[in-house]
Amino acid sequence: IDFEAELDTHFGIAHTRWATHGEPSPVNSHPHRSDKNNEFVVIHNGIITNYKELRKYLVSKGYEFESETDTEVIPKLIKYLYDNRENEYVSFSTLVERVIKQLEGAFALVFKISLFPSCSFSRRLQSAHTNKVIYLEDDDVAVVMEGKLYVHRIKRKAGEDPVRVIQTLQMELQQIMKGNFKAFMQKEIFEQPESVVNTMRGRICFDGNTVILGGLSDHLKEIKRCRRLILIGCGTSYHAGVATRQILEELTELPVMIELASDFLDRITPVFRDDVCFFISQSGETADTLMALRYCKQRGALTVGVTNTVGSSICRETDCGVHINAGPEVGVAMCVCAYTSQFVSLIMFALMLSEDRLSMQQRRLEIINGLKKLPELIKEVLALDDQIKSIADELHHQRSLLVMGRGYNYATCLEGALKIKEITYMHSEGIMAGELKHGPLALIDKHMPVIMIIMRDACYKKCHNALQQITARQGRPIILCCQDDPEISKMAYKTIELPQTVDCLQGILSVIPLQLISFHLAVLRGYDVDCPRNLAKSVTVE
Ligand code: UD1
Ligand code: MG
Repeated sequence: IDFEAELDTHFGIAHTRWATHGEPSPVNSHPHRSDKNNEFVVIHNGIITNYKELRKYLVSKGYEFESETDTEVIPKLIKYLYDNRENEYVSFSTLVERVIKQLEGAFALVFKISLFPSCSFSRRLQSAHTNKVIYLEDDDVAVVMEGKLYVHRIKRKAGEDPVRVIQTLQMELQQIMKGNFKAFMQKEIFEQPESVVNTMRGRICFDGNTVILGGLSDHLKEIKRCRRLILIGCGTSYHAGVATRQILEELTELPVMIELASDFLDRITPVFRDDVCFFISQSGETADTLMALRYCKQRGALTVGVTNTVGSSICRETDCGVHINAGPEVGVAMCVCAYTSQFVSLIMFALMLSEDRLSMQQRRLEIINGLKKLPELIKEVLALDDQIKSIADELHHQRSLLVMGRGYNYATCLEGALKIKEITYMHSEGIMAGELKHGPLALIDKHMPVIMIIMRDACYKKCHNALQQITARQGRPIILCCQDDPEISKMAYKTIELPQTVDCLQGILSVIPLQLISFHLAVLRGYDVDCPRNLAKSVTVE
């Protein structure tokens, strides 16, 4: 590949990351350097597991460390190898390869060196931005020298193709513009009527009531023969599993396990050849989920990805999968429309799997009709924004906010509480209403802010029960309920009345007021909702 070299061009490297070692601070930020003259600078994504040993060794050789990061051993190490080189002709890439041999862990690295001439490059482009990328594979080393890019492999197996093609990213600039919204997160919330349509487009035929996920058709037989489904994810993606588990169990009649990727790995969970394992991740790069995928693959299970990012690691390494097609997400750490689109994707999977089950047709039809009307109902919920804002006005000085529900809406509580924590820094907890008397009830008094979700479904009576326990303790719950429910309204401090849909889809509507509340709370508390502290857009480190 030939790059046009231009002498007056500056070449820089940068990395946005969250701190795995040491607090987020300028000194712990990338790039890290070899010495005060910045002879070697490095950015690093991932984790170096043997950094303590390396650091000890380098300190004993007189190298002084500035940060608390694992990364800093890398520039120090390359400087050490350079200082102790056998002759003047050792190349930059040889040094890099020697460094890599000493590192343990998971890493992608970019090195820049000021000692060798002309290792900068430029592309003749109209703007600073580019939409052309090259994906590197594991063990690839790309060297940019004298305006040229060379890719070679540390270990080359026979027959392996080292050519890496230049790909053009599809993301259009206008797609990532905020438009009239205050924040990307707010825009994402309000775009959900469209993003769920994008998830369903070309997959559900509302005339024939058929559902086809193109990415799974070839594996349908195998999936139908499996002994159980395991849904694996972290954070929001895990909640999408919690939200759809019940309908998956109902329509597939298979046992369904839902697993937090980290815990799943910690437990060394038994997995078998006749298991089908789903890996849910909006970015497709979540480290724990990716490791769980490799773990299940090794044990011979069929692996299915549910990702938003075409070409991501999870997408590439799974046997098959579904792109949720929720559009690009630009709010840092915000998986607002990912949740609803993952939700819809898993529902579509359940519908597809039960297509030939005669006894399920009535239920399937009801759900397909529900999905058809979903975008209109989401708009109705979004129209409640002013009312929801006024509730946030009242709550934003509070220290804590409990969110309670059960059945189909338990996942809504978990996801709502997560959003509140993540962007408003208020303590929040999603509580299974059935667990109230086993502890959480002790928290309730007239000062404790509580949101309850009580929809007209099979859990209605039980939720009503929980509500009575709350009011008996002078609790003053804000209740998300269905329109025209005087029974509930009269016991509520405030209500947010939502349109009713099919029980298993209700969670898509009930999560939206919680998304809006967390957005307004964050703004009222003075935070930048698109850049929450301590969170990275894609968590690529354990
Ligand atoms: C595909 C096309 C879509 C086109 C449609 C027309 C892509 C990315 N999608 O969509 O543009 O309009 O056909 O029929 O080209 N996969 C994984 N792991 C994952 C996600 C997906 O292995 O985590 C695989 C799938 O098994 C499939 C491929 O990636 O082989 C594309 O998946 P998806 O975009 O969901 O398929 P379609 O909806 O059929
Ligand atoms: Mg794949």
